[in-house]
Amino acid sequence: MTKEAYQTLSVETSGRVAVVTLRRADQLNAMNKRMQGEITAAFEALSQDEGIGAIVVTGEGRGFMAGADIKEYAAQTGADFDAFQAAGTRMYAAIEDNRKPVIAALNGYALGGGMELVLCCDIVIANQFAKLGLPEIKLGLVPGGGGTQRSVAKLGRNRANMLLMTGAIVPASEFVDTGLVNEVVDAEKLMSRALELAEMIAAEPPAAIEGLKRLTAHAARGDLAKGLAMERDILGELYRSEIGQKRVREFAEKSAARAGKAN
Ligand code: COA
Repeated sequence: MTKEAYQTLSVETSGRVAVVTLRRADQLNAMNKRMQGEITAAFEALSQDEGIGAIVVTGEGRGFMAGADIKEYAAQTGADFDAFQAAGTRMYAAIEDNRKPVIAALNGYALGGGMELVLCCDIVIANQFAKLGLPEIKLGLVPGGGGTQRSVAKLGRNRANMLLMTGAIVPASEFVDTGLVNEVVDAEKLMSRALELAEMIAAEPPAAIEGLKRLTAHAARGDLAKGLAMERDILGELYRSEIGQKRVREFAEKSAARAGKAN
């Protein structure tokens, strides 16, 4: 996919640093199928680009990514839903297994799939407005993009349980002591700090940086592939359940009703 063909994100490069910006701001950058494909394509291309030494990912507006597009979920068949989750596994791998370090510049809501994307990043810088959460339980679902597996690895099991089981939406500052968020900075310094780190890393020998990334990823991982497959199976069942269908539809209908009133 050429850069020009992207509709839901942009990729800008400056020297050896690439910035990927998610751009569905009016939907808090909720990830529809198109965005999912574009994230995969952009990160897979950057992974192979020898001119790039580090990647920053951020969102336009007040969202980083408020999760998968629930309105699209409401219109999917079970088979479409499974295909979206399977494509998600590839998308998150394109970030987690990217040959280049990925720094999240967290500008706002990172919920569901958005937090799952953050969990795949190597370094996380947030501003004071950023919030994280895995609220799928509110839809009667569970995360499907590695959220149950990577949150345990990065937060510890009990903190992960609390987040997953309550669906709480929590300020980024509360994740600093867990190590998930490296730093919280003022909104106007968010990009400059993320870029400063990206440039420092991109100036180091690429093979050594790639080696470090593979080593720390290995150290943090249990049997991830098995956990991811279990997660997708359980989510697939819940999506098809009465409560899952009802809540997903309710979210979409509420939005449609608001749109109706606005017209
Ligand atoms: N999927 C689809 N649309 C979403 C979305 C999502 N995950 N998250 C936000 N949006 C849309 C809203 O429907 C709304 O669009 P509309 O104006 O066309 O109706 C727009 O983004 C702005 O969101 P809104 O809810 O009006 O903003 P808010 O500040 O009141 O609330 C949130 C922000 C993040 C708390 C709320 O949008 C929310 O709970 N989103 C869902 C988060 C979630 O459950 N993610 C996991 C998905 S599996």
